[in-house]
Amino acid sequence: MRKKIVAGNWKMNLTLLEGAELVNDIFKGLPILSEDKKVVIAPPYTHLTQTAEQLTGMIDVHLGAQNCACEASGAYTGEVSAAMLKSAEVEYVIIGHSERREYFNEDDATLAKKVNQALSNGLEVIFCCGEPLAIRDADTQNEYVENQIKAGLFHLSDSQMGHIVIAYEPIWAIGTGRTASSAQAQDMHAHIRGVVAAKYGETTAENTSILYGGSCKPSNAPELFACPDVDGGLIGGAALKASEFIGIIEAMA
Ligand code: PGA
Repeated sequence: MRKKIVAGNWKMNLTLLEGAELVNDIFKGLPILSEDKKVVIAPPYTHLTQTAEQLTGMIDVHLGAQNCACEASGAYTGEVSAAMLKSAEVEYVIIGHSERREYFNEDDATLAKKVNQALSNGLEVIFCCGEPLAIRDADTQNEYVENQIKAGLFHLSDSQMGHIVIAYEPIWAIGTGRTASSAQAQDMHAHIRGVVAAKYGETTAENTSILYGGSCKPSNAPELFACPDVDGGLIGGAALKASEFIGIIEAMA
């Protein structure tokens, strides 16, 4: 059975002290989770070792990073490699977030290289996809997202695909307060699962967790997470407040 996951993406927010306080507050309110449910916290790089220490002994909560380099090592000033993340006890890495694609010009080929780096260093990948508003308005979102998945993931072997979590994040819903309806989310998630099944077979597709992201809140998470193909969420703004993040975790519990 596939896992349900709520992952918090802090983006470029919080100082070390603020981050430590947030993690402590999350611990205080964390519900008991069954074995098939996980929480991931993805703080900025500077926070990773501190957060790893805080997470020691927490079996339900896993450490994530928001990005990794597409190269293994060398003269790439400012970059952080997948091997470095692994050595900092990171388990998950977010790759292909729309902000990375848009503001840092990360194209499909670069993202495929990042996925390879992450997998070859034993990290689990949260691979993001999602369409801009113009594509949704033109009703071509299914083809658009399918192409992102093919370009980023379809070079992987069956066993590598087992280490991929997909996050569907319509760009028009990220940080806008405008959430996809549960029907829109379910339609796209079912489409994504079908795309994975066509390449990797039904079993792999059934075992792949597909998260929804984009203005997910405690108020809309229960309805979204109740959809049969929505296996949790990738949370931005609401991951910065313990009470909201816990509310969303409770929606999958
Ligand atoms: P949001 O961000 O929850 O603030 O909309 C989601 C994301 O970008 O992962």
